[in-house]
Amino acid sequence: MTNNFSRTLVTTALPYANGPVHLGHLAGVYLPADIYVRFKRMQGENIIHIGGSDEHGVPITITADKEGISPQDVVDRYHSRNMDAFERCGISFDHYGRTTSPVHFRTAQEFFSEIERKNIFVKKKERHFYDPEARRYLSDRYVVGTCPVCNNPEANGDQCEQCGTHLSPRELSNPRSKLSDRTPELRETLHWYFPLGRFQDQLKNFVDSHDDDWRANVLNYTRTWLNQGLKDRAITRDLHWGIPVPLDTDEAQGKVLYVWFDAVLGYISFTREWAEKEGNPELWRDYWQSSECRIINFIGKDNVVFHTLMFPAILMAWNEDRVGGKYSLADNVPASEFMNFEGRKFSKSRNYAVYLGEFLDRFPADTLRYSIAMNYPESKDSDFSWSDFQNRTNGELADTLGNFIKRSIDFTNSKFDGELPYACTGEDWDALGIDWADSFEKLDQAYEQFHFREAASLTMQIARLANRFLTESEPWKVMKTDREAAGKTMALSLNLCYTLALAWYPVIPHTSNRIYALLGFDQSLDDAVKKGDVTWHMARSPQLQKGHKLHKKSEILFTKIEDGDIAPELEKIERLLEEVRSQEKGESKEELKIKPEISFDDFQKVDLRVGTVIGCEKVKKADKLLKLLVKVGSENRQVLAGIAQSCSPESIMGKNVILVANLAERKIRGEVSQGMILAVEGSDGALHLADVEGTGVNGKSVQ
Ligand code: MF3
Ligand code: ZN
Repeated sequence: MTNNFSRTLVTTALPYANGPVHLGHLAGVYLPADIYVRFKRMQGENIIHIGGSDEHGVPITITADKEGISPQDVVDRYHSRNMDAFERCGISFDHYGRTTSPVHFRTAQEFFSEIERKNIFVKKKERHFYDPEARRYLSDRYVVGTCPVCNNPEANGDQCEQCGTHLSPRELSNPRSKLSDRTPELRETLHWYFPLGRFQDQLKNFVDSHDDDWRANVLNYTRTWLNQGLKDRAITRDLHWGIPVPLDTDEAQGKVLYVWFDAVLGYISFTREWAEKEGNPELWRDYWQSSECRIINFIGKDNVVFHTLMFPAILMAWNEDRVGGKYSLADNVPASEFMNFEGRKFSKSRNYAVYLGEFLDRFPADTLRYSIAMNYPESKDSDFSWSDFQNRTNGELADTLGNFIKRSIDFTNSKFDGELPYACTGEDWDALGIDWADSFEKLDQAYEQFHFREAASLTMQIARLANRFLTESEPWKVMKTDREAAGKTMALSLNLCYTLALAWYPVIPHTSNRIYALLGFDQSLDDAVKKGDVTWHMARSPQLQKGHKLHKKSEILFTKIEDGDIAPELEKIERLLEEVRSQEKGESKEELKIKPEISFDDFQKVDLRVGTVIGCEKVKKADKLLKLLVKVGSENRQVLAGIAQSCSPESIMGKNVILVANLAERKIRGEVSQGMILAVEGSDGALHLADVEGTGVNGKSVQ
């Protein structure tokens, strides 16, 4: 099944650029992909890794609204942060694109137009919630209301966080707009639907043809959908952020492509951009439109059907009635389960996470890569814990691998002047007690079948045997009586170092590069791999000749992690868990609900003035109201304020307050109110007047 391919294209799910990537993302998608790609590169295969940021969709606009910045600001910030974190972690993308790029707009629009031209889309009119104040249609996540199942008054339009029920906004009672807090109205709007059902048979055949090579979880999720019968899916949205529907008609005005329609096509756009970067703009076709290329999509389990049904169906629609320029479908979609963190699900919204960039500020990338590879959530959820991280770093990386390398290098440097003292033969190598053929066959299989935890364990097993060989050979003792025998031990050990440098390259490439340098090579291992000077099969036999010179340097590859190093992390977890628990008990702190953005001009319309309270009395039969007389410049205004329960009339006499001076007059309880004064509600419910100290401020405008 994999044998006829001469090229491989690896893609990784595009993370939303609305927040930093965390260890869960790394474990499920990016690290496994990188391990696979590095393994293949070392085998000398033609393979590219394409990824990038998903910069459209409601997740982006929600973050923008929350932070009071533009969607563009959001994606600019997180695209570069995430790219940087990946780079520091050694995730070796050949190209890391973004879905806001011109090439991507063109590609996505081209796909829409082609499918529209073939009349495959179905258009439907629907009634959707609309917020007249914000002048926006409200996608599911912009509506809150009361959950029909558990009566939680703050259920989201797509899901109730309290009871977990998946909802649609129309099911909520008392729906409110997150933008204005008002009751939204239903308005009719037209949308383009992709008729997945039309491709039901083709999709079923596609999935069935991978019965033997796809993971069980991937087949299961996909077949659940297939068995229910595939339905039409809307692929346009009424949103102000996204790729415009490329039609000039009135009905297409203000519509953008649904984020999932555009995101999966990002894989294609980014391969095009990569080809341009390579100076061969048509090169992308060798990967997407050639039967010689194998396509592998690394994803998390929440993305399965988009990759096994939606994306293939879009490509099938494109391919329909075509002679040339047909796209290939993925050959495999290795979806991971989730890696949890200290026994709980990572949650970006609850801030229960360790972010990749922050982690790398504190600990080296390879310690993380190794721990995560050993916890790869291949077929069931796994768990990352600080103590496991500490144990693996200290016991396996430092005590086993690091210790072996350092002893081999240091002893050769000090006793043999940094020179390989002996020519290893095949028999010597086989006498080490490592079954090379069997080990590497198992390793190869593990990598080929995406069993990365197994691959890392097998490699550590080689390191263990090497370490034991050196310890048991005791060259430091033997040296005194038999220099030659000690020399043979060191020559074998150094060749084992070489083997380990290569064998570890997929999992902990930074360390491999360092070992390779310690062994006396001037060219970096990365470059040697790129040029083909070093290949995978060289790892299984001794490569270093007698007389080979080391650089005579010494290095500690892994620093042990002390309890004190992770203590702050453990404390932080306690805090986070405390917060999560109290949130779950419904004691959550109020989140800032910022109203929809206004322009500077809008703000300028509000005339705020300083006024002085020159009269004040309670209003009869209204226990919250005070009637104030406020002097503003030469005018006296009567203002009614709902502050009676917090302020006594005496306490505010003479105060300089801030008044909205151009608010339309209105009547409250039969009394005229000519403006409004500003006050703040404290957490105890008491109101505090915003007052201004100073003299000569009366009548001045507030800015
Ligand atoms: N942004 C999506 C997520 O984080 C994944 C998109 S994957 C792609 O869940 F296929 F659309 F690229
Ligand atoms: Zn509920």
